[in-house]
Amino acid sequence: MVAPRKQQITQKGPTWIIVLVGLACLFLIALFIHPLLSHTAVCKFFPTQACRIHDHEGMHSNAFPRELSDSEIESRVVVKEMLKFNTVRTKTSKVAFLFMTPGSLPFEKLWHKFFKGHEGKFSIYIHASKEKPVHVSRYFVGREIHSEPVGWGKFSMVEAEKRLLAHALLDTDNQHFVLLSESCIPVRHFEFVYNYLLFTNVSFIECYIDPGPHGNGRYIHHMLPEVEEKDFRKGSQWFTMKRQHAIIVMADSLYFTKFKYHCRPGMEGGRNCYSDEHYLPTFLNMVDPGGIANWSVTYVDWSEGKWHPRSFSAKDITSNLMKYFTSIDESPHITSDPKRTVLITPCMWNGSKRPCYLFARKFVPETLDKLIHLFSNSSSP
Ligand SMILES: *[C@@H]1O[C@H](CO)[C@@H](O)[C@H](O)[C@H]1NC(C)=O
Ligand SMILES: *[C@@H]1O[C@H](CO)[C@@H](O)[C@H](O)[C@H]1NC(C)=O
Ligand SMILES: *[C@@H]1O[C@H](CO)[C@@H](O)[C@H](O)[C@H]1NC(C)=O
Ligand SMILES: *[C@@H]1O[C@H](CO)[C@@H](O)[C@H](O)[C@H]1NC(C)=O
Repeated sequence: MVAPRKQQITQKGPTWIIVLVGLACLFLIALFIHPLLSHTAVCKFFPTQACRIHDHEGMHSNAFPRELSDSEIESRVVVKEMLKFNTVRTKTSKVAFLFMTPGSLPFEKLWHKFFKGHEGKFSIYIHASKEKPVHVSRYFVGREIHSEPVGWGKFSMVEAEKRLLAHALLDTDNQHFVLLSESCIPVRHFEFVYNYLLFTNVSFIECYIDPGPHGNGRYIHHMLPEVEEKDFRKGSQWFTMKRQHAIIVMADSLYFTKFKYHCRPGMEGGRNCYSDEHYLPTFLNMVDPGGIANWSVTYVDWSEGKWHPRSFSAKDITSNLMKYFTSIDESPHITSDPKRTVLITPCMWNGSKRPCYLFARKFVPETLDKLIHLFSNSSSP
């Protein structure tokens, strides 16, 4: 009674095994033939070196988490520890103003008005890359740091930013750092700027994804494995940064080196990459995304869609224009693809929407007198 049943099973057994093996073979063949499905699935089941190399091409970067290299782990440890130290604002806390300029500052007189009466709450550092500036303000005299030549869009720009930060970090009272160019102006009074920057817990660094040629089009897979295309970000060079982040930037050589060698103008295939628009947004978004505001507090007008932003001349300068700068509470980021999508970041400050801008660019030197007049005359810019 028992024997026949056993026989039945053993008779059926081989058929089932053959069918199963057949199905498995078909499945595997299908996997290897299907160009997109196969790689992901095969690598999932049989992770090999070949899979890792493939993944580095970016196609399947989300298939499974990548194993971090020694230097990436070291970098993460350092960043994590540094983020634990929250900066404390004290009576002696200062904002460091870092001026990146070829030579003399055309708006020094305006800045003088801006700083006047607030001694002890700011420090000034000037990186003059071409010629020694001639000063008209005592606040600026003797504030030049050692500088090196800087080329527009060259990596030397990022090195100069780092040099400015390093000099400013030497003063432990400097708690927030602002990078400005010679064509930048203040659109608010000092007190407002000081409180805006020191009572926040973020760095104001513009950061967004630009799928177009001036965004991801500048990415190159040589930045793998540390920087994947999905991590590549764009943002304005003109940042403000809290002390914590400035120290993290000092400590970073891993990502800095990646950008230094693979994000420069005139790379192979005619690719132009400008690290000053990508290194900080990409790096800080990777290590501390919640710690950056994702917009810049320096107003700029890219709406003309040209290679350079709109430049304001003397005839443009009116009190309405100044009011306009201070009224905006949403920051636009324009992508460079044919769609030219405008991404909007609401300017959230300590949980509520506030005006975005403290500074503005670009202004031609001839606007100085009008700007000084409007600045002195405005009660609460
Ligand atoms: C900035 O954007 C990132 C996403 O890219 C987000 O995770 C982060 O929370 C944003 N920062 C703030 C302060 O909202
Ligand atoms: C900053 O403060 C806000 C609340 O004001 C909080 O939600 C956020 O997590 C803080 N961010 C950081 C990076 O500490
Ligand atoms: C930030 O928001 C919290 C909660 O609304 C409030 O208690 C705190 O005073 C605010 N900080 C500043 C500097 O405005
Ligand atoms: C303010 O503006 C008014 C009218 O334009 C002008 O008469 C006055 O001199 C200005 N004040 C200063 C301090 O510039």
